[in-house]
Amino acid sequence: MTPKIVPAMLPVDYARLGDDCVALEKGGADRLQWDIMDGQFVPNITYGPDVIAACRPLVSLGFEAHVMCRDPEWMVPKLVDAGCDIIIVHVEAMRQPHATYQAIRKAGARAAIALSPATPVSYIENVLDLVDLVLIMTVNPGFGGQAYISTMEPKIAAARAMIDAGGYDVEIEVDGGIGPDTIAGAAAAGASVFVSGSALWKYESFGAGVTDLRQRAAEAAGG
Ligand code: DX5
Repeated sequence: MTPKIVPAMLPVDYARLGDDCVALEKGGADRLQWDIMDGQFVPNITYGPDVIAACRPLVSLGFEAHVMCRDPEWMVPKLVDAGCDIIIVHVEAMRQPHATYQAIRKAGARAAIALSPATPVSYIENVLDLVDLVLIMTVNPGFGGQAYISTMEPKIAAARAMIDAGGYDVEIEVDGGIGPDTIAGAAAAGASVFVSGSALWKYESFGAGVTDLRQRAAEAAGG
């Protein structure tokens, strides 16, 4: 499977957000990840469904919402209406995670469970039949530009083993500190979708970054 490179819509030029979306699509990104933060679940605030909806008509790329908000259930239908086809919610942020993943599917989107670094991988066990993607955070959520937490690699491998043992068709995505020096470790551990923010923006072009990161991931995965 060809590794997917997903820009994090965090280090964007907020005064020219739409232009960044178009440039990222031209650069070959596989989809865009919108980092929604409420200042409660994480100590940062970004944007909500209305901003995502404004960018939806500008590109044909898939949109995934990474919801870093407490009790995010109410936002699910708004994110679907805004044009998100994958909704990623943190298991730590909800009172009834199983019900929320069911609700995301019922709303017509693909559901994804996100695990912050301290959350055991066992938390995915009872929802693998409900989700299409597992997001393993390789930083503590809330900010871009943090250092990759390499001790998450055994967790990635354990998630891969659980998914394969159960015969599930579930992607593993990693997010946080993913760049040219770290993507290989995550890919070798079993991730196939890679979110990159600050590292991608450091390349001379989005196209160069997407191509380089995808190639590094493919080589590490034995592709
Ligand atoms: C963190 C965000 C991530 C991340 C991406 O809360 O969810 O998307 O910061 O930015 P980098 O790649 O700079 O870590």
